Amino acid sequence: MIYLNSEFMPIEQARVPVLDRGFIFGDGVYEVIPVYSRHPFRLAEHLRRLQASLEGIRLANPHDDAEWTRLVRRLIELNEPEDQSLYLQVTRGVARRDHAFPKGVAPTVFMMSNALSTPPREQVDKGVGAVTAADNRWLRCDIKAVSLLPNVLLRQLAVDDGCVEAVLLRDGIMTEGAASNIFVVRNGVLLAPPKSHLMLPGITYDVVLELAQANGIKHQIRPVAESELRGADEAWLTSSTKEVLAIVRLDGKPVGGGAPGPLFRRMYALYQDYKERVMRTSGD
Ligand SMILES: Cc1ncc(COP(=O)(O)O)c(C=O)c1O
Repeated sequence: MIYLNSEFMPIEQARVPVLDRGFIFGDGVYEVIPVYSRHPFRLAEHLRRLQASLEGIRLANPHDDAEWTRLVRRLIELNEPEDQSLYLQVTRGVARRDHAFPKGVAPTVFMMSNALSTPPREQVDKGVGAVTAADNRWLRCDIKAVSLLPNVLLRQLAVDDGCVEAVLLRDGIMTEGAASNIFVVRNGVLLAPPKSHLMLPGITYDVVLELAQANGIKHQIRPVAESELRGADEAWLTSSTKEVLAIVRLDGKPVGGGAPGPLFRRMYALYQDYKERVMRTSGD
């Protein structure tokens, strides 16, 4: 079942008019929320980021957090898998094609939830390959916009090379992945790029930094140079659906020893442990 504009229905019945500005202009924002054992993970944080994205595109939030929470919980109930990946999208609605905002138009609100597929064990154990690419996106990458054409093209570069992600570089500085945040480990210190307009403030990124802080893992939030990425002992990617994965090959060359490093293994275990703890204590 999906949710579209106040109604729950089977996806086959869901229809959006061709003049929806999401379709015509990519004029909308979205969120992807992992659901473990039917509990939405970090829902409040996802709703806060949704609010920031909506403000970024000057679109009023159609619901308050209580209503979003109610809708999200209902959609989870209506779908079978215990672990789900819940996608929600708000667009500027349906109007005659004109770039400027239409007046008096209701936004289109869409949500679906599919089985969550976290990375296979083999990717966790052996790590994954990535390529680097020039970050040719706009300067508001902090907005989680549905207009993802650059990200689509960049991710495909990685796939064309048999890799899972493109690590993006702008003016000699690492920004993030095509659909993930990137961390680097050098000399036992975890390095994370600072949040800015040049990257999405990842929910998983926050969890990883909180876990580093809580567990005495040395870390610095500061710009990471391309040379530091290329000479890293470890590199990780993080996202809601990929969780934490080690990048063990970059542009065909090994990262560090070419296998998931000790700090990755520690963080992976901390992350799994944290997930379980949160789900056990989430109270419903
Ligand atoms: C461009 C980009 N950066 C970072 C992330 C990671 O964000 P989160 O951890 O909230 O999933 C994503 C998520 O898909 C993304 O698309």
